[in-house]
Amino acid sequence: MAETDTLIGAARAARERAFAPYSKFKVGAALEAEDGTIVTGCNIENATYGLTVCAERVAVWKAVSEGHRAFRRVAIVADTEAPTPPCGPCRQILWEFCGDVEVVLANLTEEKGRYRMADLLPLPFDARLLGR
Ligand code: THU
Repeated sequence: MAETDTLIGAARAARERAFAPYSKFKVGAALEAEDGTIVTGCNIENATYGLTVCAERVAVWKAVSEGHRAFRRVAIVADTEAPTPPCGPCRQILWEFCGDVEVVLANLTEEKGRYRMADLLPLPFDARLLGR
């Protein structure tokens, strides 16, 4: 398991690559896959606004497309005093691919808290309800 600081550091570095000219709100995410690989993402905005993709989802799409299917943890970084948690759609996507992982929230200088996905997304709709 990577050091938490390493995972947060990867999310901070990814945040620097955010494309957020409209909101100016840069976010970075780092997923730790079961084999220890760290896959990062940043938010990527679009002039249409609605096509913006959050950092968490960019990280999940990258990881899944590279063949990762099991994950241990995710770190999310934004430049806010209060912890920046994943938005609703990202919680659904994180649940689909990562399940009840630990979610580490941090800003540019310190860790702001650790949460479980099951607490962030209680009573989830998932594959079990489809009999899968
Ligand atoms: N954003 C993320 O990337 N992740 C979050 O958890 C919250 C919001 C992005 C989307 C948009 O580019 C900007 O932050 C402002 O909402």
